[in-house]
Amino acid sequence: MARKIIIDTDPGQDDAVAILLALASPEEVEVLGITAVAGNVPLALTQRNARIVCELAGRRDIRVFAGCDAPLERALVTAEYVHGNTGLDGITLPEPTMPLQDGHAVDFLIETLRGAPSETVTLCPLGPLTNIAAAFRRAPDIVARVQEIVLMGGAYFEVGNVTPAAEFNIYVDPEAARDVFASGVPITVMPLDVTHKVLTTRPRIDAFRALGTEVGEVVASWTDFFERFDMAKYGHDGAPLHDPCVIAHLVRPGLFGGRHVNVEIETQSDLTRGMTVADWWGVTDRARNATFMGEVDADGFYDLLTGRLARL
Ligand code: RIB
Ligand code: CA
Repeated sequence: MARKIIIDTDPGQDDAVAILLALASPEEVEVLGITAVAGNVPLALTQRNARIVCELAGRRDIRVFAGCDAPLERALVTAEYVHGNTGLDGITLPEPTMPLQDGHAVDFLIETLRGAPSETVTLCPLGPLTNIAAAFRRAPDIVARVQEIVLMGGAYFEVGNVTPAAEFNIYVDPEAARDVFASGVPITVMPLDVTHKVLTTRPRIDAFRALGTEVGEVVASWTDFFERFDMAKYGHDGAPLHDPCVIAHLVRPGLFGGRHVNVEIETQSDLTRGMTVADWWGVTDRARNATFMGEVDADGFYDLLTGRLARL
């Protein structure tokens, strides 16, 4: 039985690969809809990019909604320096022709969770948690109806990527992250601790290109572009492919390992804004609210990803 999911996203090349992996895995995940949020680039581009990816996958039927264009309580911070001005730099793709849904993404989240049997819908946030937190604030009754949240965000042993203390998705909207982590919904976290172990090395990008398909060429071009910033910054032989870890966990959970711990979000300090404070050694009596991943079979991850992309 495929897991019903809603992907909340700020494409971004790595978000785009995550969406493709989900759409190529109907046995394991059923995408009920895609909700765009402001993050890597502004909302006007993230909703456009989400539709570009769906059309690339031949899935004009997927409902894409535009959500929040700014964090709950702060000014938007974007990341064109990583993703390029369009958010999907690396290759030029045609403008989308599939429609953007009329409704707001937050209303779609609320209506879908109210309309489905309780605990049968999984939320997969791949960007700032603004849409999720806004839905929980507007309709507290839906919180208990969420099956699980599997998100990309945070960092603990790997430290931050946008500041020394914080990972980008959490940093952009720390109040939203605080609310989501305190919601009581079961959460599985794919932090930088694990995403920095799935690097787009040259053989792995070559394997995308060797698929000989449009999707393979596009994904190879995205990762060629996407990795230049992180390789210069970290000196690794590839860039972390963050967001597909969320979907890969749903498709093949055995790829990942972590620990069920308490995670809380720093919102008061400018120095550590957006830090995910993981009580890894259980030194507090704070409730364990998240499975915080730290281990991954990287070769298994790329074998799965490449094999599924070959289907599109
Ligand atoms: O820090 C990495 C995260 O920020 C990824 O989700 C990337 O797409 C950006 O949103
Ligand atoms: Ca993202």
